[in-house]
Amino acid sequence: MQKITIKTLKKMKSTKEKIACLTSYDGSFAKIQDETGVDVLLVGDSLGMVLHGDETTLNVTMNNMIYHTRLVTNNCHRALVISDMPYKSYTSPAQALENARRLARESNTDMVKMEGGKEISEAVASITQDGIPVCGHLGLMPQSIHKLGGYRVQAKTESEANKLKEDAILLQVSGADCLVLECVPAKVAADISSLLDIPVIGIGAGVGCDGQVLVVYDILGLSEQKFKFSKNFLSGRDSISDAIKAYVAAVKNNSFPSLSHSYE
Ligand code: KIV
Repeated sequence: MQKITIKTLKKMKSTKEKIACLTSYDGSFAKIQDETGVDVLLVGDSLGMVLHGDETTLNVTMNNMIYHTRLVTNNCHRALVISDMPYKSYTSPAQALENARRLARESNTDMVKMEGGKEISEAVASITQDGIPVCGHLGLMPQSIHKLGGYRVQAKTESEANKLKEDAILLQVSGADCLVLECVPAKVAADISSLLDIPVIGIGAGVGCDGQVLVVYDILGLSEQKFKFSKNFLSGRDSISDAIKAYVAAVKNNSFPSLSHSYE
């Protein structure tokens, strides 16, 4: 079983093999996800909402991220692990570098993820120049939820879509190795995916991205809230393994997301 690296992800983009990603927060799920062919495990700060029951991700700490990422990295061998830098852990390039180093050293993550565009580009550069891979996150950025005024689709106007494209390019130029696009119109996400050399992983961003990510509890029907962009893959199946295998297969053969899971 060969470990997935950022080189593997770039090769998958160039050969048009879709990247299947799920969130993961603990060892038991990580083990199943790793064994069922999930390519990327994202230890998202969504854990604040999914595990802690908070209304936002804003209360998640560096210690939370290190603890949950450690559980995941200890229990997976093949998948690449991405770990979120929590709220206010990267307000300056120096603070970002110090916290990214902590995550890399203490949790053994393969990559860190940060929300934002131009305003974080120097922080991204400081981390990538230090040898730690970075995944950007644009579109709906839950750490800016109060500024965005709620969980809603982003980049719906031409000027917002152009700003999103500029930010995506800037993140790539700053050294990011991957980008998550959350809740943006499918056409905008497809354009950005073909514009960038780095892989783009979408959530609520249509089938034109290089890969897909969903919250694992959502695909197992465990979350109270149901989202248009998600799907219960456990429905009609007997086990968590089968549900995750079905998710991976649907991402790889482009049957997920369908138009009904996407935004115009
Ligand atoms: O925190 C998270 O789980 C995420 C994904 C939903 C993309 O950022």
